[in-house]
Amino acid sequence: MITLKQYRQRQSRLLAQLPQNSVCVIPGADLLTRSRDTEFGFRQHSDFWYLTGFNEPQAWLLLSNHPRFDGDYRALVCLPRDPDMEIWHGRRVGPELAVSEWGYDEAYSSESLIEVLTDWLDDHDNVYFPQGEYAQADDAVFEALSNLRSRPKQCRAPSAIVDCRPLIHNMRLLKSADEIAVMRTAADISARAHCRAMKFARPGCYEYQLEAEIHHEFAMAGARYPAYGTIVGGGENACILHYTENQDTVADGSLILIDAGAEYNGYAADITRTFPVNGKFSPAQAKLYQLVLDAQLLAIEHLVPGATLPDVTNKVVKMLTTGLCELGLLNESVDSALENKRWRRFFMHGLGHYLGLDVHDVGEYSQHGHPKPLEAGMVITVEPGLYIPNEPDVAAEFRGTGIRIEDNLVITSTGNDVITAGVPKTIEDIEALMEQ
Ligand code: GLY
Ligand code: MN
Ligand code: MN
Repeated sequence: MITLKQYRQRQSRLLAQLPQNSVCVIPGADLLTRSRDTEFGFRQHSDFWYLTGFNEPQAWLLLSNHPRFDGDYRALVCLPRDPDMEIWHGRRVGPELAVSEWGYDEAYSSESLIEVLTDWLDDHDNVYFPQGEYAQADDAVFEALSNLRSRPKQCRAPSAIVDCRPLIHNMRLLKSADEIAVMRTAADISARAHCRAMKFARPGCYEYQLEAEIHHEFAMAGARYPAYGTIVGGGENACILHYTENQDTVADGSLILIDAGAEYNGYAADITRTFPVNGKFSPAQAKLYQLVLDAQLLAIEHLVPGATLPDVTNKVVKMLTTGLCELGLLNESVDSALENKRWRRFFMHGLGHYLGLDVHDVGEYSQHGHPKPLEAGMVITVEPGLYIPNEPDVAAEFRGTGIRIEDNLVITSTGNDVITAGVPKTIEDIEALMEQ
């Protein structure tokens, strides 16, 4: 769990990076309509969650280092207490508890947002703000600025609007020990769910039934929502990278690709496994599967501090291309296939991405024009795949086969730690689990 103290430390670390006399105003997420007057389950904005741990809509975090305050000054804007609204829509913290329990120096009702922003922005040199994130928030900040400019004798509007996101995203890129502990829990829950789906699968089952097994396992462990739309693709559906219809039955002899991860305490896991619905890989499936697995193991060996994702991707691509040539899926020399990027027909996505509060987590992938080297504390996915289209120029035994194997890695000072090793991935181990 991340404690209130840690959220405050994050706020201080952000403030410490701002020039003197800056104010930082960060809006949280609002509810999104699902249909007519019902909303999707509330999901806080990841930056706001990272800095506050406050899980209500329409909140703002305000931070200032103006000399008029003695040191860092923080406030929360939140929905006011309202017995009627709370009977219908649920409990609210309210400004009073935001100060007494949450430790803010001040707190205000969101009903007075514009006045509060006008007051807070006054007499600062810079306002740090994630412009363009939410149109309504942009409008609120611009209205506050225009209020200040309309009273030039009494007020002074900040002259610079600076994007606060690069600073926050840099912080989010390197995970603390406590964040890694939470991510391990997300990974463990997700691994158990994948094992359960493997055990449940049988020819003729529906993709959505496997999805239901997975979501039930997540929810029973306290992870009520998946971190992204669960992908369950049987047979050719596995070749659709972000397939989420999950509506078909899975025919005997097919592989099933499941890409599913729990969101726990805001943090995502992101696991993919591919396995035969009847519990036994066919010889052709086994050949392709082993190639992807070998490529994944090669990548894991090289994803260590100092390495870059593009460098490791090149190694993986070389191995996959060599294998595709050997299997007759590419009919030219390995060198020429690499030169002409022929592998792209079968492996069209990246090797991996940062993982954290967002499944495709924030943080720069390059700096000063060069790929950013991996560092201890980063958490990344490693997810090579091969997707063989159902097209006539491809050998019949491979047609319409999609395979991806995805694990989550914590980069450590000496190498990496695979936190999703709880789901089997060798052919032998998968077949053994499914036989149970
Ligand atoms: N689940 C999305 C991804 O693997 O990137
Ligand atoms: Mn991924
Ligand atoms: Mn995934």
